[in-house]
Amino acid sequence: MMPDPLQSPEHVQANMVIRNIGQLVTVAQQPIAGASGPLQVIENAVVALHDGVIVWLGPAGEKEPMFQHDADTTVSEITAIDAQGMVVTPGLVDSHTHLVFAGDRSEEFHLRRQGVSYASLLAQGRGILTTMQATRDADTATLTELATGRLNTLRAHGTTTVEVKTGYGLDKVTEQTCLRIINNLNALETSPVHEYSRVRVVPTFLGAHSVPPEYREKRDAYVDLVIEDMLPSFVGMARFCDVFCEREAFSLDESRRILTRAKELGYLLKVHADQLSASGGARLAAELGATSADHLDFASDADLDALREAGVVATLLPGCSYTLRAPYPPARRLLERGLHVALATDFNPGTSYCENMQMMLGLAMSAMGMSLEEALTAATINGARALALHETTGSIEVGKRGELAFWSIADYHEIGYHFGVNLVHSVFIAS
Ligand code: NIG
Ligand code: FE
Repeated sequence: MMPDPLQSPEHVQANMVIRNIGQLVTVAQQPIAGASGPLQVIENAVVALHDGVIVWLGPAGEKEPMFQHDADTTVSEITAIDAQGMVVTPGLVDSHTHLVFAGDRSEEFHLRRQGVSYASLLAQGRGILTTMQATRDADTATLTELATGRLNTLRAHGTTTVEVKTGYGLDKVTEQTCLRIINNLNALETSPVHEYSRVRVVPTFLGAHSVPPEYREKRDAYVDLVIEDMLPSFVGMARFCDVFCEREAFSLDESRRILTRAKELGYLLKVHADQLSASGGARLAAELGATSADHLDFASDADLDALREAGVVATLLPGCSYTLRAPYPPARRLLERGLHVALATDFNPGTSYCENMQMMLGLAMSAMGMSLEEALTAATINGARALALHETTGSIEVGKRGELAFWSIADYHEIGYHFGVNLVHSVFIAS
């Protein structure tokens, strides 16, 4: 019997081959032949994909297999991409954004320059509630257009997977509209680079972002609405349920009630935890087995240990510290305690109006003392971990989806060092 050429080690079935990669920064979780350093970097590399899945990677040259499109040899065309010597990393994973909203909060930003605090604006019914009103007043087409523009911007800066939260509707109809918009985003975005560039969008329901004004005097009724009506109605529309657990937002008990019900209904969990004060959010995330706990500026060592023991990813959001002129999250403390640390933008109109994950990489290195290796890990594979997608994305390894960022730099050590400009040339995202 003739050997099957696709089974032999020197033949690999592939319908796309990317060549001439100056440095392939794999961030691989398994050892890779021909790679060096903690990020497992391969010089002058080749990546082959079949139907969007990575099937081979390694240095160009003798050890390369024969790439073959199909067992049926009449179909021989393989798409060839020339990376022109660029650096290629996993696409950046932004695991925490509030992308869908209308309105403008620049006034608050400038008020804070005069010393007015974020918490006091929130307590006055401004902040999140200002954006809520503008979002309720906007029509679906406007909200969609705004969100799509932001999605294109974050992709242009290297993000290939993004989590998007609701939380500016705060009534059932508007929360549902926002969830529909989030679910439709992939289909609607424009594609300036090439056809392989639809950002993967992960929807999160954040009905517990703030108590809306019509429930100010009866907050229990709002918590009941979230638990009894919104959560069951939105099953299947959101992968995660999140809660803003904070004195000015939802108490520990309210947060526990909401997240417990969400878990019963099959949502994965996230918590805005210990951002403005020691609210107990991190403990709650550990107790309920959340996928991630985000912010953590005020989390104690015991809270951090509880997160690590429960396998909760710690997501740090330095854009908030930058905007609020607050101390940066204690990344070194978290890393030293052995937590999985992720970085995200927290793109939102109040505390971090920035779509650019490169900015977060830069802040992590310059303001939080993270190394390039730690920061890139946090912005790729650990971002994927914070979305429970690390089995399929976040690193460049055989069997994972092709989600790649092409950087117009000669050496990946420029990341974080050369700051304030966009170093990403384009992204590739398998459809
Ligand atoms: O992650 N903390 C709560 N939510 C956002 C801020 C939202 C807003 O101010 O509009 C955050 O920082
Ligand atoms: Fe947030």
